[in-house]
Amino acid sequence: MKFLHISDLHFHKFSSDNLEMERRLKYIQKNYPSHHLIVTGDIVDDGHAEQYVNAFKALKPFLGKIYICPGNHDFGAAGNFFSAERAARFDAMLAVPLQQGGTFRGDMTPVVNIVKDEHDTVMLIALDTNLETEHPFDFACGEVGESQLAYLKTILASPAAAGMVKIVFFHHHPFMHKNPFMELRDGRQLMRALYARVDLVLFGHKHVAEKWENMNGIQYVLAANNAYSNDFAREIVVTGGELTVSFVPII
Ligand SMILES: [Fe+2]
Ligand SMILES: [Fe+2]
Repeated sequence: MKFLHISDLHFHKFSSDNLEMERRLKYIQKNYPSHHLIVTGDIVDDGHAEQYVNAFKALKPFLGKIYICPGNHDFGAAGNFFSAERAARFDAMLAVPLQQGGTFRGDMTPVVNIVKDEHDTVMLIALDTNLETEHPFDFACGEVGESQLAYLKTILASPAAAGMVKIVFFHHHPFMHKNPFMELRDGRQLMRALYARVDLVLFGHKHVAEKWENMNGIQYVLAANNAYSNDFAREIVVTGGELTVSFVPII
């Protein structure tokens, strides 16, 4: 089973600002027709309705094989100012029409999808790491929250999850500590919950691609760069429970 991980698409209101991102999505559609696509947030730039319309139009061809989570820019202006109205659009204009099998805003439960082929069953767990605060000093920080963390632990400990390859993905960098502008405040608690219990962790936010192997008891921890101006994305191949990771062109 093959996956592509992209992040931080930052769809804008005017079509002319989205051409580079649209070219990349068309390339992915044409060249990786059977890959599952995982998008780790900041899908739009400010949470405006027009941006969501543009993003949905570009992502609709991946219906049935796309898995998303929200980033700080999806829920607020400049990524810093959380707005309940803009957050609601993520569910109404992307998560529901892209058939995510769950919504993100408010209930704070992970969104779980299972994909299978003849060799593997993969559990995809999407988290909402947005800090739902209106205080400007919180900037672009994130939080998993106690409730979502508790649900995550229950899912990972469930007998149904045993034997599946487990991929957890979210937007905020989980161990960029001491950055008061961008940190995931409970990143330590999240990484503790994931320790040796999942196979792959994916995120974005920092717009820098990074890779950690066999870290925190996890086969791969991968950060994606921003897809709208980068020419490569990570491909993850799952075969008989084994993962291989490489960069592939997206333009
Ligand atoms: Fe971003
Ligand atoms: Fe972000």
